[in-house]
Amino acid sequence: MTPVLEARGLTMRFGRVTALDGADLELRSGEILAVIGDNGAGKSSLIKCLSGAAVPDAGQVLLHGEPVRFANPLEARSAGVETVHQALAVAPSLDIAANLFLGRERRKAGPLGSVLRMLDVGGMREAARRQMDDLGLLTIQNITQPVESLSGGQRQGVAVARAAAFGSKVVIMDEPTAALGVKESRKVLDLILDVRARGLPVILISHNMPHVFDIADRIHIQRLGRRIAVITPASHTMSEAVAIMTGAAPPPAG
Ligand SMILES: Nc1ncnc2c1ncn2[C@@H]1O[C@H](COP(=O)(O)OP(=O)(O)O)[C@@H](O)[C@H]1O
Ligand SMILES: [Mg+2]
Repeated sequence: MTPVLEARGLTMRFGRVTALDGADLELRSGEILAVIGDNGAGKSSLIKCLSGAAVPDAGQVLLHGEPVRFANPLEARSAGVETVHQALAVAPSLDIAANLFLGRERRKAGPLGSVLRMLDVGGMREAARRQMDDLGLLTIQNITQPVESLSGGQRQGVAVARAAAFGSKVVIMDEPTAALGVKESRKVLDLILDVRARGLPVILISHNMPHVFDIADRIHIQRLGRRIAVITPASHTMSEAVAIMTGAAPPPAG
């Protein structure tokens, strides 16, 4: 089966530093693919190339088997690749509805929208409420509440709802639980499982081995700028994964 999102031989250099050295990645339909690797392994660079935040010096990105070139994150998003970044997931001073529709605001019908450019605030709030309900984010009482008043986990929820709301093909999450407590992390992990259940494949970058082993279908191990192994929670233990990641153990053959 054709992977949903694929990277082939991505290379990226910064002067004499090689961030990516022929990196491959394959995201299959319906899966949660975790990406793990030591600091400097090239995880962020890889994700930047997939999400349009950086353009590789060489190599290819394919979406549903078709080569794509994203010049910026907006182009990636329009093509259906949504990335939830750790810090900038949302605009804190805006409310939930405004965050969901950020950059995709709906105008009022007729000349009010087309000529006067008036926003369909009521319609957006209603759609936002439906989306948050739909994802089981009922703890968020008020759709007009500024996002800065939400907890870290709730903010992630808004970011994920946003990703899930617009017919995305892929959701990429960069360290979504890094700043969260135990309970909130659990909610975000459940949210990721929920996104998968809706048929959206997810790339999850994480340092947290228990989280990775809890929800990933497959685990991409990045080392020295390239993919050195793909394992599964069934094929390897956490300490085996860490040993491969750090070079203490050789990657499995094949
Ligand atoms: N903008 C940049 N300028 C210079 N070096 C960079 C830049 N971005 C990344 N690098 C280098 O590329 C390598 C890979 O970095 P990165 O992709 O951030 O790895 P990871 O996310 O796995 O920690 C590191 O050695 C890093 O210092
Ligand atoms: Mg990084």
